[in-house]
Amino acid sequence: MKYHALDTPALLVERERLEANIRNMAELTRCHGKMLRPHAKTHKTPEIARMQLAAGAVGLTVAKLGEAEVFAEAGCKDLFIANQIVGEQKLERLVGLARNCTVRVGVDSLEVAMPLSEAAKRAGVSIGVRLEVDTGLHRAGVRTKDEAMEVADALARLPNLELDGIFTYEGHLYQANSDRERASAVARMAEELADLRDSLIRQGIPISIISVGSTPGARFTAPVPGLDELRCGVYVFNDRMQVARGAPPESCALTVLATVISVRPDGRVIVDAGTKALAGDKPFADQTMGEILEDPSLRFVAASEEHGHLQAEGSARLRVGDKVRIVPNHACTCVNLHERMYVVKGEEVEDVWEIRARGKFL
Ligand SMILES: Cc1ncc(COP(=O)(O)O)c(C=O)c1O
Repeated sequence: MKYHALDTPALLVERERLEANIRNMAELTRCHGKMLRPHAKTHKTPEIARMQLAAGAVGLTVAKLGEAEVFAEAGCKDLFIANQIVGEQKLERLVGLARNCTVRVGVDSLEVAMPLSEAAKRAGVSIGVRLEVDTGLHRAGVRTKDEAMEVADALARLPNLELDGIFTYEGHLYQANSDRERASAVARMAEELADLRDSLIRQGIPISIISVGSTPGARFTAPVPGLDELRCGVYVFNDRMQVARGAPPESCALTVLATVISVRPDGRVIVDAGTKALAGDKPFADQTMGEILEDPSLRFVAASEEHGHLQAEGSARLRVGDKVRIVPNHACTCVNLHERMYVVKGEEVEDVWEIRARGKFL
């Protein structure tokens, strides 16, 4: 079947680009002696996780317990939930997961660590923990070295927890305006984390792994000695946000296929893909919602839930019923909206993959 024949909106992934992205990140990390633990929240799809593991990934990162459960069931048994797990229901599920696979979670306070330790003890399991360090994003994570030392010390003592490392998410790199700014932010982060590891080791707390994340940071973090593991996610597909930060446009593997449903005399073209098919991220100064592969001169100027508004310069060349492919601004939020992705090579649909971890926000 040709992808043009699909009903729309439909999520397409170009197999060759996907494979190249997986291969390139695996090579980048391997050649610098780093471990790669890709963030699977981007694709949420077991078939892609297996491709990443086959290319050398040591395991997967996920954001949610529900994602971890899907990947564990699909046979991916080495998981890092890079998030704080709070609340009785979740702790119950976490210990269940820990019985079947190697699972680690993020921790940044004793309030999170103590119930975790108690739940693990009650269930007779051991749970890996990594201390989350804030290196500039100002989300979760310990903010000062003193706080880090205190929480790490407690983590090392609490029963049924295995402290295996420290981690940070350098999401603040998304705000950097140049490679120079990215490189210096990475250098500062690496120095801070190395200093923390040295201090913890001097205190008798062994830290075997320093784990960092982020796709825009990978070119800069991979060569830095002392950083052990990278958790990039978006690189599998790339998107407009990554292209704006140096990814080649031809590495964008993901598009939303949409149908033209109305053409207005003023050059306005309406397609059947709005925020329900693309998500609402507008990270650009020009506020456009995506890029139209068939005609990049069309500007995706607005989106409501079901409608995408494209503006042509002059009169539009598209007609009602035509199909266009739209590169999304942000791959992760876009994928989360779809039940399946169509795997295409050229015009041919070769496979259909269920996005099994979509919507798993619990
Ligand atoms: C904790 C954590 N690690 C890794 C990543 C992956 O980074 P990126 O989305 O830049 O690939 C994310 C993304 O949000 C994250 O939150």
